Amino acid sequence: MSERRYPVAIEVNGVRREGTATARTSLVDFLREELRLTGTHVGCEHGICGACSILLDGDPVRSCLIFAVQADGHRVTTVEGLARPDGSLSVLQDSFCEAHGLQCGYCTPGMLIAAHALLARNARPSEDEIRDAIGGNLCRCTGYQQIVDAVKLAAGRLNGDGAK
Ligand code: FES
Ligand code: FES
Repeated sequence: MSERRYPVAIEVNGVRREGTATARTSLVDFLREELRLTGTHVGCEHGICGACSILLDGDPVRSCLIFAVQADGHRVTTVEGLARPDGSLSVLQDSFCEAHGLQCGYCTPGMLIAAHALLARNARPSEDEIRDAIGGNLCRCTGYQQIVDAVKLAAGRLNGDGAK
């Protein structure tokens, strides 16, 4: 017998999206498989690595720990929604490139979401605050320093501090 599916409607990156999900479908699987938004990565699938981070009603959460049906009626931002409207990289994304804040890129969508949420609430974070904000996101490649540098660079650029 096939599993029952439930209708799910979510505002994703500013657009109302609809689909169906079983009661146990995670939000990350719904985003990737039902909506074909594969920018959000799947890592550990149990809330440890942060690769699946998204914004739910503006707050960073791990989408592997939320059922798709729980997100029904809510607002989600994925990494695809961080780019500028014309599809070019945001200041934060560009700063990750500039400061070499990624190597394999597996952690990058989650890191960008965590950093974006930080800069939205704190335009001038200290290094400790940056490290705290990305503390729940694991990176196997960079050693984290370049990621911290990328967030600092983005903050400077967004504040018009003359940082390159
Ligand atoms: S895949 Fe969700 S925290 Fe690792
Ligand atoms: S760049 Fe490879 S896991 Fe972070």
